[in-house]
Amino acid sequence: MNYDGFFSEDVGSFFRSPVREIFKRVDLSKIYSFAGGYPSAATFPIEDIKSLASEVLSKYGDKALQYGATQGTPELRAAVAERCGVPVEMVQITSSSQQGIDVCTRILVDPGEVILTSNPSYLGAIQSFRSYRADVVGVPHDTDIAEWEKAWRKAIGACIDGGKKIKFLYMIPDFQNPSGETLTLQERSLLVSLAREFDFLIVEDSPYRELRYEGEAVPTIFSLAPERTLHLGSFSKIFAPGFRLGWILGATELLDRIYVCKQSLDLCPPVMDQYMAAEFLSSGRLDANLAKSISLYREKRDLLLSLLERYMPEGVSWTRPEGGLFLYLTMPEGFDSVAFYDKALDAGVAYVAGSFFCTDGSGRNTMRMNFSFLDADRMEPGIRILSSLLKSELLK
Ligand SMILES: Cc1ncc(COP(=O)(O)O)c(C=O)c1O
Repeated sequence: MNYDGFFSEDVGSFFRSPVREIFKRVDLSKIYSFAGGYPSAATFPIEDIKSLASEVLSKYGDKALQYGATQGTPELRAAVAERCGVPVEMVQITSSSQQGIDVCTRILVDPGEVILTSNPSYLGAIQSFRSYRADVVGVPHDTDIAEWEKAWRKAIGACIDGGKKIKFLYMIPDFQNPSGETLTLQERSLLVSLAREFDFLIVEDSPYRELRYEGEAVPTIFSLAPERTLHLGSFSKIFAPGFRLGWILGATELLDRIYVCKQSLDLCPPVMDQYMAAEFLSSGRLDANLAKSISLYREKRDLLLSLLERYMPEGVSWTRPEGGLFLYLTMPEGFDSVAFYDKALDAGVAYVAGSFFCTDGSGRNTMRMNFSFLDADRMEPGIRILSSLLKSELLK
């Protein structure tokens, strides 16, 4: 049967994640994978989770297995509110921060309207934006703030001249996926002043914020402009992604629309998971586990940086993230990381081509590398293979 005539117009704008396609093709345990954004399995607090399940069932009984409030359980909302220093009314629990991105787009954007973002940006967000037929406009980061402001003004001006409404700016200010970069306070303040001047909202996506390995935390965009920012948090990288739990902080008027929208999406976030996360957080076990994850990831980041320094051929440069799970490699102009990918995979190494994160097909000479997933003792052989392949490719 041909089903084509049955699909909605939105379906035509869906596109498959090239990252997930990579995972379907290979057995991750058999290759040197710098590709996915998976946390290290060593950070999963399995023994804690076993006892949390039993503590929650003893404490809450059948309530833990019943439907719950759409906003999230009062216990988890209160725990997140306390951690983030906001009133509980400004917290909505989500079934993952990916859902947070999707639900914000769903309540705010009509087809053809503009979402501004960095270029490159998080692929899962671009997928969501395109699925609502938004016009995604990416602006590359420029460390010269005057030049960066010019680039934003040019992009915003072009939207306005084209009669397009800008609904929000989507940014990952801490340890960005894919670049690993962190925005300075001055850069965050510039984005807030542009949002106020041109009257758009900001969606601040911060799943990596708590994974800082050096330096001082920079204030969130939400703290600079709580009235026009929806701040997304996630338990995926500080607890376990299998729980599929996140949160949104925002003005109650915005959260109320998200609340109604979520009634038709999933009725409520997973209840048992929320009770366990709340217990994990309020008992201090989350912070203890996070401290261990941070020290593991710091070592892995340092190891990857030293291996790149040692083995990469001339002409290759990379970012030095202060936290998060990724760094970003730039090869000389003309190199094609999409075409090179099969060679690398045949030799047993995986990465994600940078152009998959770009809003305009640029970034062919870049790649994203993850340092959380691969065991430390497998990093050196992986980098040696990748750099020797790159050497021969760049000499061609
Ligand atoms: C920037 C960013 N936002 C959101 C997500 C999705 O996270 P979650 O597991 O909470 O859906 C990811 C996952 O890698 C991410 O990198």
